[in-house]
Amino acid sequence: MRRISRRSFLKFTAGLGAAGSLLPLRGALARSPFAGFPAPSAAGSGGPIVVSTWKHGHPANDAAWRILAGGGAALDAVEAGVRVSEGDPGVNGVGYGGLPDEDCTVTLDASIMGPDYRAGAVAFIESYRHPISIARKVMETTDHVLIVGAGAEEFARKHGFEREELLTEAAREAWIKWKQRMSDTDDWFPKDLDHDTIGLVARDAAGDLAGACTTSGLAFKIHGRVGDSPIVGAGMYVDNEVGAAAATGKGEEVLKTCGSFLVVEFMRQGLSPRAACKKALERIVKKHAAKPAFQVAFIALSKEGEVGALSLQKDFQYAVAVDGKNELIDAEYLL
Ligand code: GLY
Repeated sequence: MRRISRRSFLKFTAGLGAAGSLLPLRGALARSPFAGFPAPSAAGSGGPIVVSTWKHGHPANDAAWRILAGGGAALDAVEAGVRVSEGDPGVNGVGYGGLPDEDCTVTLDASIMGPDYRAGAVAFIESYRHPISIARKVMETTDHVLIVGAGAEEFARKHGFEREELLTEAAREAWIKWKQRMSDTDDWFPKDLDHDTIGLVARDAAGDLAGACTTSGLAFKIHGRVGDSPIVGAGMYVDNEVGAAAATGKGEEVLKTCGSFLVVEFMRQGLSPRAACKKALERIVKKHAAKPAFQVAFIALSKEGEVGALSLQKDFQYAVAVDGKNELIDAEYLL
């Protein structure tokens, strides 16, 4: 069986894109009562707020909210929130139960950032269920920001984190199915899988912001591939004077535009969180000659407590917890 390599495929499709034309952006078709507007009572309330990506952001928000409702810090809340997705074997894009790479190895990426401009991250790490807590340990016990691969695993071991098998039976079966489906014409990319990284940003009762992002990355990726999630400024960014943002979707696109940093910078210039997400997505679209078929989505939270989110394609959902109420929202989309 002859296989087209992923690298050739990427070059090939990039060539197709350059030959195509940029289709006009359509207005958003999916609207929710919250979409693009401050969550109810959020703006100006001064109280805690949690915003996260995807359906599994909803239980993550609950965990984060419990901490904030008890007067806890945003940093503790974001870590506790995303740990819920990391530990859930039913979430196939994060932590335990995450889909493996092409070698059938689960490798994880995570980053965390607090209100004091400190950040920590790990990437390409195997065998630890909660990379977000290792990222926090990097932030709090070193002057480094990012530790990768075997070095990150050794760091985790030395700090007492427990090694464990992260490949679930369901994830192994999904890998076998993917492998069996490959043919001469296969592009090696999974067709029917969500890419459901969790990004979670929060403001605590003191008005301080924090963010966390954690993922198993692109399903069946090349061994060693790292996406946007552990890169501070790409997958997640916090500026306690301005706001916080996080990304999900095709990490390569978010990396090249420094996506979450860009969203926060647009907020700094006075744009609402929703408008900032839109402008960052438009930057991605502009860099492609043809209408992108991939998904990217941003969530954003301003210092004032305004919430915004937007995706390129339909079917992105985000969760907002405010005033003790946690809502899953269908996001507006751009294309
Ligand atoms: N956005 C997650 C990744 O591309 O790895």
